[in-house]
Amino acid sequence: MSEKASKRLMPSDIRAMKGKTPIVSLSLYTAPQARLAAPYCDFLLVGDSVGMVLYGMDSTLGVSLDMMIEHGKAVRRGAPGSCVIVDLPFGTYEASPEQAFASAARVMAETGAHGVKIEGGVAMAATVEFLARRGIPVMGHVGLLPQAVNVAGGFRAHGRDSSEASRIHEDALAIDEAGAFAMVIEGVVEELARRITKEVNVPTIGIGASPACDGQILVADDAVGLFAAFKPRFVKRFAELSPSVETAFAAYQSEVQARTFPAMEHCFGVKQSAT
Ligand code: KIV
Repeated sequence: MSEKASKRLMPSDIRAMKGKTPIVSLSLYTAPQARLAAPYCDFLLVGDSVGMVLYGMDSTLGVSLDMMIEHGKAVRRGAPGSCVIVDLPFGTYEASPEQAFASAARVMAETGAHGVKIEGGVAMAATVEFLARRGIPVMGHVGLLPQAVNVAGGFRAHGRDSSEASRIHEDALAIDEAGAFAMVIEGVVEELARRITKEVNVPTIGIGASPACDGQILVADDAVGLFAAFKPRFVKRFAELSPSVETAFAAYQSEVQARTFPAMEHCFGVKQSAT
């Protein structure tokens, strides 16, 4: 088993990890997942991917602030000693810095999370600065932006052509300068992620980006093979749990139908025979 993380890190500690030991993180949504992952992660993200992974939505656009708050509370309960960052979902921060502050303040007050993540670069820089100056640690998110899937033309690698690459580069520099404590770089060509990592002052957390990033993040259900709807190139399955779960459900069905489950040992008021 790998080394366990020993003390709770705060966003400022994550920021200070730039260029040092790679930062480890998972995106997850439930208390049991958080309990299992916490010892191996420097921070936990409650990602709005919850909409697709747990709720079967075909994008993250239908995720509400209330959903994020409930999952944020669950993750905090499962991992009370971990640094927890919660995604602000689509429609809860883009209109103005004030709207973002109201949403972020609700998330922080109701879940006890240590920071929020928002998607976007140059267009969100003023908002990042507004939040950071008012005591809300912000993680940025550049490159492939799942909340902008309708303008981006689907889930595809970004930065292949030079104009898109320079836009993403500018986005990263703007978020860095605005005062984010870290930024996710998602789904961009490797060379661009490497360049951004070299140029920004804060840690980059890659997903479909580059081994040169200061840290990596995966969706926990992807990493253990529980989310089987699709598997992007950047996902590595560190376990394949879906077949075992399916086998268990099939065994349960057989035993119920054969009346071998429940056995007497699973029933109340029945004396156990001495073994
Ligand atoms: O929503 C999410 O889980 C994320 C991570 C994949 C970075 O944004």
